[in-house]
Amino acid sequence: MENLQDLQNEILTAVASASDLKKLDEVRVAAMGKKGSITEKMKSLGSLPLEEKIAAGKELNLLKTAVEKAIEERKTYLETEELNRRLARESIDVTLPARPEIQGRIHPVSKIYEEVVAIFGQMGFEVAEGPDIEDQFHNFNALNMPADHPARQMQDTFYIPNPDSDNFDDSFVVRTHTSPVQIRTMENKKPPIRVIAPGRTYRSDYDATHTPMFHQVEGLVIDKTTTMAHLKGCLYDFVRAFFEIDDIKVRYRPSYFPFTEPSAEMDIGCRKNKDELKIGEGDDWLEILGCGMVHPKVLAAGGLDPDEYQGFAFGMGIDRLAMLKYGIPDLRTFFESDLRWLKHYGFVPLDESSMTGGLSNNGGLAR
Ligand code: PHE
Repeated sequence: MENLQDLQNEILTAVASASDLKKLDEVRVAAMGKKGSITEKMKSLGSLPLEEKIAAGKELNLLKTAVEKAIEERKTYLETEELNRRLARESIDVTLPARPEIQGRIHPVSKIYEEVVAIFGQMGFEVAEGPDIEDQFHNFNALNMPADHPARQMQDTFYIPNPDSDNFDDSFVVRTHTSPVQIRTMENKKPPIRVIAPGRTYRSDYDATHTPMFHQVEGLVIDKTTTMAHLKGCLYDFVRAFFEIDDIKVRYRPSYFPFTEPSAEMDIGCRKNKDELKIGEGDDWLEILGCGMVHPKVLAAGGLDPDEYQGFAFGMGIDRLAMLKYGIPDLRTFFESDLRWLKHYGFVPLDESSMTGGLSNNGGLAR
């Protein structure tokens, strides 16, 4: 059979120059449709003597396969191009401001979370995470709270049975604080350590200022020469930035936590009137966080040598910070998912908290 090579070249050139899927299909029909050039050749095979028929049939099949392959490849290429064109055409500019009428709001807890991360992030802290369902070692034992410690009593802690063991000591807990992340961080990182760990925490408690699920943020700093003076300076800088009051009054009261020694609680100055709380003025005090120097036993439980390393830790309630900063009276309303509440207390999305762009401004839009 004559000229098959020429025919193949001709069709492959047409395939390669088909500029869209429709043109490509026209090329396919012209070659392999009912009256296509290859189809016609196939038809003409019938009139040939047997020997020639076999040889020509083989050649024609090769031609057909080559053309089909070329069409398939060109099709994939054109489809990808079309998709890319569509993606470019339909892209959206995520930096455009949100339309004021949109319904969604950022929850105050998320807002405080962002603010806290922005402040400590600028001081060079990283964000660390741990699981909500913890083992008792990380939640208690490693934090210098042995099995008979009062904080482990049933009324505070939600226990979760361990399917692999009947021994109560092996049961899990939903973490009662974010402090287990201290241990998990020490297990995985060599000092210098500078982390904050925001997250959910759980205790069996329910009234206007307590919910069974709440949020905390933990802080941990460990190095060879970290001191209580660093703790004081760091937390002072934090509250000044967080409450946006440069000369905010603070005091540290001695306190007790099993996992820090010495331990303290930090209060900020305020004025408490009947229904009003004014932060940054007045002679009253408001407790806002617990802190202290990491107990040597806790360093050891985290795998660090207490003779070589020392550091400080702190923990505070995010929900409580939100109540204080944004004047929200009842904690239980935080988790009722009431859209009217969220519309009132929530924040406009895309209005990011940053130390340079403003921590809690609301983009000039109504809340
Ligand atoms: N984990 C403590 C609490 O939940 C807070 C805390 C953290 C205190 C770190 C000291 C150091 O009350």
